[in-house]
Amino acid sequence: MAGRARDEVELEQLSEQIRYHEAAYRAGAPEITDPAFDDLVERYRELADSLGVDPVERLDAQPGEDHTAGFETVEHRVPMLSLEKLSPNRRDSSGAPMPISDQLAAWFRRRRKELEVEALPVLVEPKVDGISVSVLYANGALRRAVTRGDGRKGDVITKQVAQLGTVPMKLARAGRGELEIRGELYWPLEEFTRFNATLDKPLINPRNGCAGMMKRKDPAGLEATGIRAFFYQVAWDQGVKLPLTQYETLQWLGDRGADVYISEVFRTDSDEEALRYCDDYQARRESLNYDIDGMVIKVDDLGLYARLGATGHHPHWGIAYKFAPERKPTKLLAIEVSVGKSGKLTPVAHLEPVFVSGTTVSRASLHNFVELERKDVRVGDTVLVEKAGEIIPQVVEVDRSKRKRGARRFVPPTVCPTCGTEAVSEEIFVYCPNPVCPDQVRERLRHFASRGAMDIDGMGEVLVDQVVDKLGVRSPDDLFGLDVDALAGLDRMGQKSAERVQAGLEEAKQRGFARVLHGLAIRHVGETMAEDLAAYFKTADALLEFAGRYAAEDEDAIETVAPSKSTERGAIEGLARKSADSIFYELDSPAVRKVFAGLAKVGVNLSVKAADVRAVEAVAGKTFVLTGTLPTLKRIEATKRIKAAGGKVSGSVSKKTDYVVAGDDPGSKHEKAQTLGVTILDEAALIEMLGGDG
Ligand code: IVH
Repeated sequence: MAGRARDEVELEQLSEQIRYHEAAYRAGAPEITDPAFDDLVERYRELADSLGVDPVERLDAQPGEDHTAGFETVEHRVPMLSLEKLSPNRRDSSGAPMPISDQLAAWFRRRRKELEVEALPVLVEPKVDGISVSVLYANGALRRAVTRGDGRKGDVITKQVAQLGTVPMKLARAGRGELEIRGELYWPLEEFTRFNATLDKPLINPRNGCAGMMKRKDPAGLEATGIRAFFYQVAWDQGVKLPLTQYETLQWLGDRGADVYISEVFRTDSDEEALRYCDDYQARRESLNYDIDGMVIKVDDLGLYARLGATGHHPHWGIAYKFAPERKPTKLLAIEVSVGKSGKLTPVAHLEPVFVSGTTVSRASLHNFVELERKDVRVGDTVLVEKAGEIIPQVVEVDRSKRKRGARRFVPPTVCPTCGTEAVSEEIFVYCPNPVCPDQVRERLRHFASRGAMDIDGMGEVLVDQVVDKLGVRSPDDLFGLDVDALAGLDRMGQKSAERVQAGLEEAKQRGFARVLHGLAIRHVGETMAEDLAAYFKTADALLEFAGRYAAEDEDAIETVAPSKSTERGAIEGLARKSADSIFYELDSPAVRKVFAGLAKVGVNLSVKAADVRAVEAVAGKTFVLTGTLPTLKRIEATKRIKAAGGKVSGSVSKKTDYVVAGDDPGSKHEKAQTLGVTILDEAALIEMLGGDG
C-alpha cells in the first residue's frame, strides 16, 4: 500500500484509540499511562499535519459528542456549529508560517470584498470555557434546555438547568412568540473552588466538572454548585421582535434577565484593534472569575449573516482566536524511565507539583529520548509545563537562564532499568527486548484484562499487580488457571470478589479471536489491526501457520500481505512490509506460540466469533472509502458496520475502490472518485446496503 494510504489508515486507528482513552480518562478510569496517551496524541498530530487533514476534521477540533445514556435526545432546529479558528500553525501557499494578525486581516478582507463594503464593524467577545447550551423560551417561559451533543442532536437537560436557579425561568417582555437562545454553561472559579473543597474526590477542572454536573440524572442539589450560564446568541425566533445587531442582541437579552457579558465586549471595524483587544484580554486572563480559552470575533450586523453563509461545520460570520494553553514554570526533580507493555522505554519527568489549567501536575511525559535530547532537558532544570488538549501534561521547554552549573545531559539507557537486558533501538524508540521483563509482564497483563481487550470483570490494575507479585502469574494463559481460593487470599479480596473474577475469566474466554489478539500487545497490532487479522485468518492456528511461513521468508506468504508491486493491495488493509515483518516474526516467536498454546489449553476461544462477521452480500469483499462528515453515523461506526458485513474500508481512493461514501464537505477523495468513475454513495444508501438501521 502506498505511504499516504497507510498513514491515513494509521490515523483512523489512532483516532479510535484516542477517543476511547479520553473517554476512560474523563470517566475517572484511565487504562493507559499519561505518557502512553501522549504518544498516541503526538503521533496523531504528526500524521494529521503531514497529511494536511482539514482542521475541522481533526480530532483536536471536533465538536464534543456528549450524548449520555438515559438522556432524551432531540434534534436542534438550527444546528449548533463550531467556529473556525485562527491558528498559530497556519502556513501560506509558499509554506511560510502565517502570523495570526495576517490571518485576521485576510479574514476581514475576504468578507469586505464579498459584501462589497468599505468597513465591517465586528464585536469581540470573550470565549468562556464551559459547555454550550441552547434554551427554548415560549411565551417568555423556559421550555427546554439542550446540550450541543454532536451539533445536530443534543441531550435534554431542562431539569438540570432549571434547578441551577441562575438561568432565568422567565424572559421578561419577550412577547408571545418562541425563541431559542444559545450560551455557555460554566462554573465561576470561586464557586468551583468553594464547591470542590466539599468533595472527597475533587473534580478535575471547572469545565469538566460543569459538564459532569449538568449530566447528573437527579438534579437535586445543583443549585448549590453556583454553575451559571451566559448567553451570546438568538438561534431562531418566531413572533418575537429582535434587534438587528449582535451588540443590541446582547443588550436585549441582558434587559430581559439573561446573563450576558456586555461589559466585556468591544466593537470595532479594524482588525488590528480587534486583535489588540484579544491580547489585552488575554493579559487579564488570570484575574478573571471564569476560564476563557480565547475570544470570538463576530460581524455585528446580523442582517449580513445569511449572505455570508456557512459550511457544514462553521458559519462565515465569526472566527475564534484561541489562546495558547496556560504554561507554568516548575522544577524537574528526576527523570524516570518507564517500561511499556511492548517493551518501549519512555522517559517521564517528575516535577515539583505545580497548578496548571485546573489541576496539580507532578508527572509529565517526555515522549522519547530523541525528543528529550532535542529539548535538552536536564535534572534540576526549570521547565515550562502545559497541558496538551487541556488534559495531558507535558514539558514544553527548558528555561535555560535558570540552569545550574554542572547540570548533566540525560544519557538514554543502554539497558532496561527493570530487568537489565540490553536495550535495542528501533527508529526513534528504545525497547527492552526481554518478553519476561517484570514491568512488561505487568503492563501486558493489565492491557490483556482491560476493557478494550478481554474485558475481564473484576480484574483491575491492582489485582493484576497482586496476581503477578503473589501468585506468580506471568502470561495471559496463567490468568485462566487461577482458582477461587488463591484469589480469595489476596488483599482486599474475599470469597465473593474471587468468585466474581472467576466468572469474569470464564466469560472472557468467549470474547473471540480479535479481542485475544489485541490483548496480546503485539507491537503494531492495535484494535483495528487485530480485527483485520482475525477477519482474514479466522483462527489462531491459521494465523500462526502463516506467520511461520512468513518468518521462513516464504515468497507466497510475503506477497499475500505485502505485494512487491506498489499498485497492488495486500490482503490486510493498512499493513505495510515493515510492520508485517515485525508482526509475523513476533507471532512466530516461541514465547507467543507458547501463550497461544496455553490459551487453547484452558479453553479460550481462538476463532472469529460467527456473530462478528455477518456477511451482507452486497458489501462482502467490496472496498469502501469514507469521506466528509456523515449526517448520523460516526466514521468509526460506519467502518465497523462495513467490516462486520464483510467489506473493507480503505483510506484512499483508487481504481480498486468499489464505493466512496461521501458526507458533508467531502474534499479531494470525492473528486478523485468522480474522475475514476467510482460509484459514490450517501449515508442513506450505505445504510440500505448494510441492511438498514442498526
Ligand atoms: S458564538 C457557531 N460566542 O465556543 C457557534 N461562542 O465554537 C457560534 N463560546 O462551544 C458561537 N463563548 O458555546 C460564541 N462569546 C461566544 C462564546 C462562544 C463561548 C463557545 C460556544 C461553542 C464554541 C464555538
